[in-house]
Amino acid sequence: MASTTPCLALLFVLGIWAFQVSSRSIPEASMSDKFEQWMASYGRVYQDAFEKDKRFQIFKENVEYIESRNAGHTAKKYKLGVNEFTDLTNEEFKSMRNGYKMQRSTIVASSKTSSFRYENVTAVPSSMDWRSKGAVTNIKDQGQCGCCWAFSAVAAMEGITKLKTGNLVSLSEQELVDCDINGEDEGCSGGLMDDAFEFIISNKGLTTESSYPYQGVDGTCNKKAAANHAAQITGYEDVPSNSESALLKAVANQPVSVAIDAGGADFQNYKSGVFTGECGTSLDHGVTAVGYGEDDDGTKYWLVKNSWGTSWGEDGYIRMQRDIDAEEGLCGIAMEASYPTA
Ligand SMILES: *[C@@H]1O[C@H](CO)[C@@H](O)[C@H](O)[C@H]1NC(C)=O
Repeated sequence: MASTTPCLALLFVLGIWAFQVSSRSIPEASMSDKFEQWMASYGRVYQDAFEKDKRFQIFKENVEYIESRNAGHTAKKYKLGVNEFTDLTNEEFKSMRNGYKMQRSTIVASSKTSSFRYENVTAVPSSMDWRSKGAVTNIKDQGQCGCCWAFSAVAAMEGITKLKTGNLVSLSEQELVDCDINGEDEGCSGGLMDDAFEFIISNKGLTTESSYPYQGVDGTCNKKAAANHAAQITGYEDVPSNSESALLKAVANQPVSVAIDAGGADFQNYKSGVFTGECGTSLDHGVTAVGYGEDDDGTKYWLVKNSWGTSWGEDGYIRMQRDIDAEEGLCGIAMEASYPTA
């Protein structure tokens, strides 16, 4: 895949916004009450009345979108809801929150092994939740910095470190943002999990979150803070592309970094349930598959850890439909998955 687009296109969304603006009728007063309550609960302060009014209009459109989607699609397996992003347009949201560069083939991959160590795995458990095995740290929040790639790589590394050493240690995304700057990765401007693994290997490890805390902005590499390497990886492997069954074998064995198309309005406003789309396959976001299972009604899903705080989704997680007809998987989840080895 040699795409060099910065991968933020999902044009149908624009049409949806335009359509929603005029379509519903929640009284303005109750909407502004809702907005005031929302501002208070998320500690939002705007610089002036103009900005506040602009944000109110966007909030209103988002709430109307959420309510119409929830009401109009009763057959849907997921619900949308208000979260800390409800005053952002979808365009703003995508440019601030994602940051996966869809161009795996351009990486100079010196440390990657071409084998897939789980290829001969035959039996996998019917469900898996790496949280219950103590291999997943708390939900983190990348803030307004497009370094999803760092959060995804770190979560996968935290997982393999727990499996190898027995210790769950929260590791430093900021070290990647500040220090992994000589390859494809560009801090808050985007990057790739595979490139992060390359850096961690050549760097001989990564330090802890507490030694090198997250700032959410590009900074200068703090070599002193990074000096104490709390965990190491020895390599990484790509899951064969476009195979949910290969991805299943991998996730059955460890948390796995996955790239997805998270640019849609339904993804921005996802609240609960098994997400079934809408989304495309323009990979723009890096997250971590930390399990899988089956809903009460038999809908299969991937359990995915996001890095957008706990107000989004199911306390920061999303369940995404698994085993769909398209080989790419929902939102392209099976296209560019990889995991570190240790
Ligand atoms: C899978 O099995 C084949 C056939 O026995 C073997 O050649 C290959 O090395 C195995 N792969 C792994 C990753 O063990």
